[in-house]
Amino acid sequence: MPGVVIVGAQWGDEGKGKVVDLLAEQADLVIRFQGGNNAGHTIVREGETFKFHLIPSGILYPGKLCAIGNGVVVDPVVLTQEIDELRRRRVDLRGLRISANAHLIMPYHKLLDQEGEAKLGKLQIGTTRRGIGPCYADKAARLGIRMQDLLDENILRKKIYAAMEPKRLMLRPYAKSPELDLHTMTEEYRTHGHRLEQFIADTPPIAWRALDEGGLVVFEGAQGALLDIDHGTYPFVTSSNTVAAAAGPGAGVGPGALDEVWGIAKAYTTRVGAGPFPTELEGPLGDQIRESGGEFGTTTGRARRTGWLDLVALKYAARINGLTGLVVTKLDVLTGIDPLHIGVRYLGPEGATFDDFPYHQSIVHRVHGDYVELPGWHEDIRGCRSVDELPANAQAYLDYIAESLGVPVVMIGVGPGREQMIWTEAAEPLRPAAA
Ligand code: IMP
Repeated sequence: MPGVVIVGAQWGDEGKGKVVDLLAEQADLVIRFQGGNNAGHTIVREGETFKFHLIPSGILYPGKLCAIGNGVVVDPVVLTQEIDELRRRRVDLRGLRISANAHLIMPYHKLLDQEGEAKLGKLQIGTTRRGIGPCYADKAARLGIRMQDLLDENILRKKIYAAMEPKRLMLRPYAKSPELDLHTMTEEYRTHGHRLEQFIADTPPIAWRALDEGGLVVFEGAQGALLDIDHGTYPFVTSSNTVAAAAGPGAGVGPGALDEVWGIAKAYTTRVGAGPFPTELEGPLGDQIRESGGEFGTTTGRARRTGWLDLVALKYAARINGLTGLVVTKLDVLTGIDPLHIGVRYLGPEGATFDDFPYHQSIVHRVHGDYVELPGWHEDIRGCRSVDELPANAQAYLDYIAESLGVPVVMIGVGPGREQMIWTEAAEPLRPAAA
């Protein structure tokens, strides 16, 4: 069994959590490799709803090894809450591991995120305000505080002092705020350290061992390709690499460990926060998709922007990730929309056309989609359990996407339930015998 990377192929919220959850059942290890509690997903298990921001949802399988890799930025307040909630619901946490090298989101990161956005005014990114950007900035500046630092009070205090000193000016409005008091913060984070200590581990060897033994390792990504800090619609991106290759440094394995790369895409497109969106639908149809797709954020509750499937962006995502398989989620949301449109190129000012995703920010901001029209379907597809059961027009829609990308469709989502994910033959050898 191989290493499989699960990544978002659009602007996040594609339904990665559900795919990871399905694969987790047979996995020997699930490990997250980037992002933080800007991500979030909901899992319904035996009628109970669980919301996750940091811990891989695989934890719901008793004893399953689930790791938060070194590439993740961890808010210990959120993590301890998540652990408490799972304990309260009697979930077995024996399999939880947290990388000792994962960086910590500190109170000043959250304040700087809010301040930074407020200062940008109209130019704001629309971040989740969870402190993600400032935390990764400190990591790169070598002023980060890591999980392992929680275990030594002296080191912790010195590092917090060193990290806060250069930020004094920007934090001036909060100078008297108790949460920024060095002593209080050190105490509070020490307390988190005591509570998390039993889970702190050296995570890369856990992944090596599982791979050496021929196990299935699922590398769980967050956000999506177009939010990647290098390849996304910068500066309207998150502060980490979201592409599949980031699983290497983010989990501590080499590229050879990443055998399969599955990109998750909705049958249409959504985006939260500001930034370009060439196939956006602003009108009743966009509202209809938002309503029927339940397009409101798990993390911030914000309404998502909606639009047609964008093949220019998806082709780009396939290349920058090296996709070996595509999961198309929420196909049922398109039922009854006839005809359907798919963006196949961009049209720019003065008649310019773009078959490939433009690298220049000013161009991406000014283009809009040029579409092919495909016939829709009206049958309720939520009960379909194989590709053959889907209406011909739904199959044709999927074939069009797969052929344009040169990537096979491995799974299709036709509703929110676990049983509503259809595995295709292209999903071998990961498809469980029963599916
Ligand atoms: P940040 O990651 O909080 O810094 O936010 C940067 C951008 O990424 C904003 O546009 C957010 O809306 C977006 N973003 C971050 N995490 C997610 C996610 O899990 N799903 C969708 N968008 C996200």
